[in-house]
Amino acid sequence: MNPRDRVRVLSFFVLSAIGMAILALAAFYPASLSARARSSAAQAGNERGAIAHHNALLLGAAWYPEQWPESRWDKDLSLMEAAHITFARVGEFAWSRMEPSEGKFDFDWLAKAIDMAAQHHIAIVLGTPTAAPPAWLTQKYPDTLRIGQDGRRAQHGNRQQFSFTSPRYRKFCAEIAGQMAKRFGHNPNVIGWQIDNEYAEPSFDDYTKELFQQWLKARYGTLDNLNDRWTTAYWSQTYDNWSEIPLGNGPNNPGLRLEFMRFISDTWASYQQNQIDAIRPYADPRQFITTNFMGFFEWFDQYVVSKALDLASWDDYVGEGQVNPDMNGLTHDLNRGLKHKNFWVMETQPGAVNWAGINNFLNRGEARAMAWQAIGHGADAVEYWQWRSALNGQEEYHGTLVGPDGTPVPFYSEVKEIGQDFAKIGGEFRGTTPVSQVALLYSYDSRWAIDFQQHSDKYDQLTVLRDYYAALRKRAQSIDVVNPYSNLDAYKLVVAPDLNVLPEKLAQHLLAYVRQGGNLILGPRSGMKDQYNALLTQRQPGYLVDALGGRVEQYYALLKDVPLSGEWGNGDATIWAEQLGASNPDTQVLLRYGATNGWLDGQSAVLTHAYGKGRITYIGALLDPNLMGKAADWMIRESGVKPAFGPVPDGIYVSRREGQGKTLFVMINFRRQEQHVDLPHAMQALLAGREESSVDLPAYGVEVFLDRR
Ligand code: GLA
Ligand code: GLA
Repeated sequence: MNPRDRVRVLSFFVLSAIGMAILALAAFYPASLSARARSSAAQAGNERGAIAHHNALLLGAAWYPEQWPESRWDKDLSLMEAAHITFARVGEFAWSRMEPSEGKFDFDWLAKAIDMAAQHHIAIVLGTPTAAPPAWLTQKYPDTLRIGQDGRRAQHGNRQQFSFTSPRYRKFCAEIAGQMAKRFGHNPNVIGWQIDNEYAEPSFDDYTKELFQQWLKARYGTLDNLNDRWTTAYWSQTYDNWSEIPLGNGPNNPGLRLEFMRFISDTWASYQQNQIDAIRPYADPRQFITTNFMGFFEWFDQYVVSKALDLASWDDYVGEGQVNPDMNGLTHDLNRGLKHKNFWVMETQPGAVNWAGINNFLNRGEARAMAWQAIGHGADAVEYWQWRSALNGQEEYHGTLVGPDGTPVPFYSEVKEIGQDFAKIGGEFRGTTPVSQVALLYSYDSRWAIDFQQHSDKYDQLTVLRDYYAALRKRAQSIDVVNPYSNLDAYKLVVAPDLNVLPEKLAQHLLAYVRQGGNLILGPRSGMKDQYNALLTQRQPGYLVDALGGRVEQYYALLKDVPLSGEWGNGDATIWAEQLGASNPDTQVLLRYGATNGWLDGQSAVLTHAYGKGRITYIGALLDPNLMGKAADWMIRESGVKPAFGPVPDGIYVSRREGQGKTLFVMINFRRQEQHVDLPHAMQALLAGREESSVDLPAYGVEVFLDRR
């Protein structure tokens, strides 16, 4: 199964617990903004210190020298160099070449490839090959193979067939990763490591179950406690032995299911740590360690798994259709928020993929626009997957830069153009990073809790998140997406569209933010559950009811839109509506429902209340796009957020990076016709190489402005 289908199938299992065949679409800051900008920029700088001979922005390709005769390598590397490709990721599926039989290692070929790349000024990111165990390993030790949800053992022939808990598999992983590090940990041309590739598939074997039970025991202490937190009196679920507790997939108790997702997250973290521990002692500190995440993939908590990494990175694929700049920007920001610093796009599509329904090609110029969008959002590298397709293997149809004949395909020219851009102006980006006044909170607990019990199959959290993001991004032009437990002090506005799981500790954290002057916006379904995914005994938003001076009286999944009117104008509630009730005379009603089911008629839909030096606002309905825009206008105004750049026409997308005493704006025209943009004042247009006070951007056109004011 290809990765993208896999995402969809996994989502299916999460959501199908209630029997519905719904497919999902598939740290702390220093206290002040300026301190934060400085520290992120410094961190970003350190990361790149080791590769100072390269541009601050790196362009890469996934290269598989093990698939080709050595005599071909120089040709490939020459073509890469000619496109200004400055790094290649290699090795991540080459286990059978690195360890052809148990305990016999061969890295000479890899050393040669790395050296040859160095001659072409191409740095190397080394992938550990553990997503593709060799046949000898799984044949001799079938216990290393994962068990699927259907109870069947995976077989050799695809990838990701290993069990993430298997001690024997982990031993082999540590061995190969350690051997690689011993050989390449001081290689000057190796700049970093990618552990494994796209963690995804848990195993549902008996050993994993035992580990889960032990994990629960460590967490809950006693079965009485667990039984109580999960309300196991319901349907005779009561456990009197830890060994009775099942894995948390399937239509199970919501408490059990939430803990199972947390267990999976911890297990991937320890799977990864096993390899970090094998590499770190032999690797120069300048070599970063990362892994490639998959956007909003929901089968583990990326905040947990990214903790031990030096750098976050992700694989940015469009699949079918064209790029949605808001969704893509949101996902970049999710990645930047993982480590609160710049990140990498470790893979992106060279035109087309092979795993979508219809594998259409990106429009000419669209990939370049995407590359620059990534940079604008804080990426310091963009890598194309893959350089050249293997002549056989599961991905023969996937996009590449070079054809089966070994010469460039048309798309190569677009990558070359990006390479020229990076070579020309990449240096300006060194030590810069986006700095935002707005934070959007994203919580895995809440995402899981809602997905387990959607209540309306139209309630898609990624769409909700994207709608909030799009409205706010358009106005603020810069947003951080962060873990709700992050330090929020630097933000003028904090928006939590879906904070369903809101335990007391998190409520206190949010209240502290509001008390010192923050503006907190909560979307529907907020403050309903505790950390065990149990219903709170207060009405929503739970521990925030007093601060809000109001509460949710009742929630309603909607069959059809309900009219809304008030301070933000007129429009509709869609998909979801909550009847709110104010309990404090100072609480203001911003929107009310019109006539509908009788229950909602004339009732409050949005409440706002001053609290401490700040304000807390609860939006009880999903809003139509126009009203969402009005709501965003109000949020921005109320919290005094300044747009990063200033007014631009629709379809023009601006991002800002700051640091080293300068400001850079990346401007992209995502429309397919030319657009004229007036700048707030004259700036240096770096790509054009001249001072400009306005610009005409062609379809998918890009300009980068240096603002020294
Ligand atoms: C059935 C069951 C009840 C309950 C309801 C919910 O009637 O017997 O236990 O689950 O459905 O609608
Ligand atoms: C993922 C994988 C790559 C490749 C691409 C194809 O990102 O990491 O190995 O399979 O998908 O799009």
